[in-house]
Amino acid sequence: MCGIVGYVGPQSALDVVMAGLKRLEYRGYDSAGVAVLADGQLAAAKKAGKLVNLEKELAERPLPAGWTGIGHTRWATHGAPTDANAHPHLDNAGRVAVVHNGIIENFAELRGELMERGHELTSETDTEVVAHLLAEEFSATADLAEAMRLVCRRLKGAFTLVAMHADEPDVVVGARRNSPLVVGIGDGEAFLASDVAAFIAHTRSALELGQDQVVELRRDGVTVTGFDGRPAEARAFTVDWDAAAAEKGGYASFMLKEIAEQPKAVFDTLLGRIDAEGNLTLDEVRISASELREMDKVVIVACGTAFHAGLIAKYAIEHFTRIPCEVELASEFRYRDPILDAQTLVIAISQSGETMDTLMALRHAREQGSKVLAICNTNGSTIPRESDAVLYTHAGPEVAVASTKAFLTQLVACYLVALYLGQVRGTKWGDEVRAVVRDLAQIGDAVERVLGTMEPVRQLARSLADRNTVLFLGRHVGYPVALEGALKLKELAYMHAEGFAAGELKHGPIALIEEGLPVVVVVPSPRGRSLLHDKIVSNIQEIRARGARTIVIAEEGDEAVVPYADHLVRIPPTPTLLQPLVATVPLQVFACELATVRGNAVDQPRNLAKSVTVE
Ligand code: M6R
Repeated sequence: MCGIVGYVGPQSALDVVMAGLKRLEYRGYDSAGVAVLADGQLAAAKKAGKLVNLEKELAERPLPAGWTGIGHTRWATHGAPTDANAHPHLDNAGRVAVVHNGIIENFAELRGELMERGHELTSETDTEVVAHLLAEEFSATADLAEAMRLVCRRLKGAFTLVAMHADEPDVVVGARRNSPLVVGIGDGEAFLASDVAAFIAHTRSALELGQDQVVELRRDGVTVTGFDGRPAEARAFTVDWDAAAAEKGGYASFMLKEIAEQPKAVFDTLLGRIDAEGNLTLDEVRISASELREMDKVVIVACGTAFHAGLIAKYAIEHFTRIPCEVELASEFRYRDPILDAQTLVIAISQSGETMDTLMALRHAREQGSKVLAICNTNGSTIPRESDAVLYTHAGPEVAVASTKAFLTQLVACYLVALYLGQVRGTKWGDEVRAVVRDLAQIGDAVERVLGTMEPVRQLARSLADRNTVLFLGRHVGYPVALEGALKLKELAYMHAEGFAAGELKHGPIALIEEGLPVVVVVPSPRGRSLLHDKIVSNIQEIRARGARTIVIAEEGDEAVVPYADHLVRIPPTPTLLQPLVATVPLQVFACELATVRGNAVDQPRNLAKSVTVE
């Protein structure tokens, strides 16, 4: 939610900041803006709409060259996505510029006070008050970092702020509370950004700022303090992927690239977690085996696609460990007073590691004495940092707003956690664990095979471009897969799509079936529980009898579905529990193609942002 970049160094600040914003545009694309410091003056440009509008504006009205700059791409919270509401925001004298991610909850009160003191505020944003407050504090202290600390102490809510002042031309100051901000350390230059992708082309050396910290960037180094002014520590880390990983690499969209990367992402997530004998070794899970043995309940919290991964994890955890597992939308979790204690293992799943709903849920769980294990794709992000343990997925940077490879790797991580729990609790024998691990090790190849057979799925998607509704059905682990297929279609193709448990259809939703309605059905393996398979074959017949156009995703060799499938999508045989890893892939391709043919922005669907840092 909102991308922020700051730079100080010998390069053109505008070039560095604009390149960084391009990398961060996935975080928000309602408007964009930049400011540079040149010859003791601030110069700014901002435009509603995508970054390309700002690029046009800069081509028509170039900014002067400067070596200190900040920039922003916005996902609107307060105020419509207009030029006036775009960041940076300046004070009345035009001496201070600020960009912001998050929500300042007491902005109305602060705004009233500023207006009483004669300030003129021209936007509808909560951010603008910060520019004015910084100007006031700077006039008293002549120190931007100190001004930032004083202002932050008065702010309520979640925020990342990055600012510069015309009277301190070689300084950029950043602050964070509950919202991401990382520092990049270069040779004679320094960077600030919401995500390392913004500066990975310049340096892989980074610092993760802690909560309530202020950082002052100068060419010769950075200084970190708490909001109280005391020196503070920020953890140094090296980014383990390079700039090429954050490029499209010849694909038409990041989403297509990320779909294609799934076999490798699955493989990488297993890497180093299986020893030479095929046993599971999750060294990073820093919750002791004795503590894990004490757990009597698992609760999974997550949002969106990560929530669907959690729904699938429930089947694996309960099957492998026999511990009850609840899965809850993180945004609902803490409001219902959930029953949590030291015997509850909470698993927080998040690609970005910054989703505010998930962060708040895990904080609530820890306050109740529960241990939290994060499954996360982003090193240095807040959720793993605030958890008791973390299992990183190694999907690499996921840029497209619609989650694909992160989902598959979340599933892999969930299966590993489930097996690990089974291993330490003794509910699974070593050879049983090794057998599942062997199956998991085959999945990358199976996904690769699926990807090689997707042309008919793309053709089918194109033929449905003018439809308004698609339904998705599944049973058992196929039910969350159906939910995920529907979510992908909604967010990418802007079509009405719903996922149902196939058995639930007869309790109401079957009334939606009408002549020609496309219904995608995820069929469990016939080699698994035959009851499950037989039931869904009956469900397909029921909807087909009522006119549905059935799109059946079924295992190779499953002949029972053939008479009832208007379109048949084959997937390689996998054990029932692991089937989501292959069954989801055609649904991703289907949604991506439908979005493309409908002319939608595949990587940046309307109204969305990749990282949702507001509640
Ligand atoms: O970064 P997270 O995994 O915490 O994000 C959670 C959801 O916002 C995310 O999965 C969202 O639903 C995706 N856009 C779906 O494709």
